[in-house]
Amino acid sequence: MSLSRRTFIKGTAAAALMADLAFVREATAAKVVERAQVQPNRLAMGFSKDDYSLDPSVLYLNHGSIGTVPNIVLDAHMGYLRLCETNPWLYMWSAPWVAPVENIRGKAARLMGCDPGEMVLNHNTTELFNLLANGLPLGSGDEVLYSSLNHMSASTCWHNLAPRRGFSVRDFHFPISDCPSLTAAEIVSRYEAAIGPKTRVLILPHVDNTVGILHPLKEIAQMAHERGVQWVVVDGAQVVGMVTVDMHSSGVDAYATSAHKWIQSPKGLGLGYLKRSLQADLDPMWVKHTYDGDTTTVQKYEDYSTRALPALMALGDALDFHAQVSMGDRVRHHHQLWTALQKIVANNSMLEWRSPTTWDISSAIYSIEVLGETSGSVSTRIYEEYQMVVRPFSTPELNALRVSPNLMNNVSDLERFAEALTG
Ligand SMILES: Cc1ncc(COP(=O)(O)O)c(C=O)c1O
Repeated sequence: MSLSRRTFIKGTAAAALMADLAFVREATAAKVVERAQVQPNRLAMGFSKDDYSLDPSVLYLNHGSIGTVPNIVLDAHMGYLRLCETNPWLYMWSAPWVAPVENIRGKAARLMGCDPGEMVLNHNTTELFNLLANGLPLGSGDEVLYSSLNHMSASTCWHNLAPRRGFSVRDFHFPISDCPSLTAAEIVSRYEAAIGPKTRVLILPHVDNTVGILHPLKEIAQMAHERGVQWVVVDGAQVVGMVTVDMHSSGVDAYATSAHKWIQSPKGLGLGYLKRSLQADLDPMWVKHTYDGDTTTVQKYEDYSTRALPALMALGDALDFHAQVSMGDRVRHHHQLWTALQKIVANNSMLEWRSPTTWDISSAIYSIEVLGETSGSVSTRIYEEYQMVVRPFSTPELNALRVSPNLMNNVSDLERFAEALTG
């Protein structure tokens, strides 16, 4: 066969497969549009459990641990997996998914309020923190600081490297027993009081995973920079998709999230914001065989070689699905549930609210204590008796159940849950 004929056939096959891909994406988009058109009032009310594959006998109130993927996104993911297997070489190593991935980067950047050139499509929050810890130029005399509210995924990596690299890592206590009376100004002052002359990196959660405090990012970032902190790096694993974020106006230098939580993408996908000025200082953590010393593009932080591209493609569908409900409607829904559970708790002498009580520093994550019972035994009991899934926390400061409902949950779910707690 002549070279030109082979090239023609290869080109035709690629064109046909690209048309297939367009079909998968269009069919998925059509389903989302059809759904939104058929039941417009659902957007205000929250999605139905029928949109997901959850077992109907399970009451899932643990979206903070891991999200649920909408059926429409699951179908799209399976479509990409099937398409990939029709010609793995083409999809994994050739052109058809290059432009769509860049399109997804653009959507993710819009959701997070940054430029596509500042957006990394990676695997999770833990990975972005490892990249930062490994790649920032830190050494003797530099300090990395975080509070006890921090998730260990954002701090273990710095401890791991400190002895080899010579920088120090320090944490400070953030008391949560007085959480119900906490204010935004107090949160800023606690961080301010902890920053020292050597602090070069400040790590903080945008929303912590225990009591769900929404940190005032802009105020903390501004204060920290004024006090000489070079990089404010944020763990937003519990935030993007739940409440509005805007990287540029926040003033932070890096921000990590796990899309498999509140964006409801397939598992093992993350988004990371890396401010351009930080990228100039941040080395990649690994490089693949074709690495050409690129120092200019954000893609150098994703130089994975083989990766789960069908899942990454389905992130685009998760972002499309997510966009069907405005952030305003999402936040109203979360606020409604938060208010309802707080009222239920206030009227039950066996329950105590352990999270903030003002909405400006609250989120869709909140913790309640069942007085006189350990959180572990309550969570086991309600799971065994009623298949209710929440996350127990048992520390010297917090004996509580963390509740993290999402759009498909409603007030009656929370009423059922509270009844189960106290019998
Ligand atoms: C606040 C916070 N940070 C980081 C993580 C780690 O997320 P991942 O395992 O997706 O990296 C979690 C997981 O629950 C979390 O809640």
